Amino acid sequence: MSVLDTLLSRNSHARLVEPGPDAQALKAILRAALRAPDHGRLRPWRYVVIQGERRQALGKCFVDSLKLRGVSDTAKLDKAAKAPLRAPMILAGLLHEVEHTTIGRDEQGHAVAASLAAAQIAAEFLGFGCIWRTGSYATDPLVVEMLGGAPGDQVVGFLYLGTRDGPSKLLPEESLDAFVSHF
Ligand SMILES: Cc1cc2nc3c(=O)[nH]c(=O)nc-3n(C[C@H](O)[C@H](O)[C@H](O)COP(=O)(O)O)c2cc1C
Repeated sequence: MSVLDTLLSRNSHARLVEPGPDAQALKAILRAALRAPDHGRLRPWRYVVIQGERRQALGKCFVDSLKLRGVSDTAKLDKAAKAPLRAPMILAGLLHEVEHTTIGRDEQGHAVAASLAAAQIAAEFLGFGCIWRTGSYATDPLVVEMLGGAPGDQVVGFLYLGTRDGPSKLLPEESLDAFVSHF
């Protein structure tokens, strides 16, 4: 399969099981992420790898995040605790804004998003399933701090990675005419 085949057939997969990427595959995925376009080469991204038992710690972090925001519904808290267990590995991609006179936070966030997309394509090319998630945790400073981020950092995406469990979704037909015009 070529990279173009991967791009044309990519779809997210929510049901992910072991095995996740091994050390070699993880390295390739992260290297692809670091090759993303980045205005000024500011490197405004930080990646945090969460796997194994540390997923439970991330779940606790999600629970604390909800509690601090006044959520007490046990079903919601239980769901948050289990959320990171939905895949063997999670890559948190953070925006770490770099001070610059003309390249602002928005543009730096776009670079992080491009980087996460590259990681997602690399993972799919290597045969893994993947889904990009955010949710309310992504912008919570407590979650960012627990991930080791600096004040002001923001999670642009949690990439859940693993082996696809069950069939892939059907790809919808896309009409180029609906989204593309020629100037
Ligand atoms: C910035 C961003 C945030 C997302 N957050 C979530 C999320 O929190 N939960 C979720 O189920 N899907 C989320 N998605 C959507 C999925 O990653 C996925 O793209 C979507 O389900 C469509 O499936 P497809 O990628 O196969 O087209 C997000 C996507 C992006 C780009």
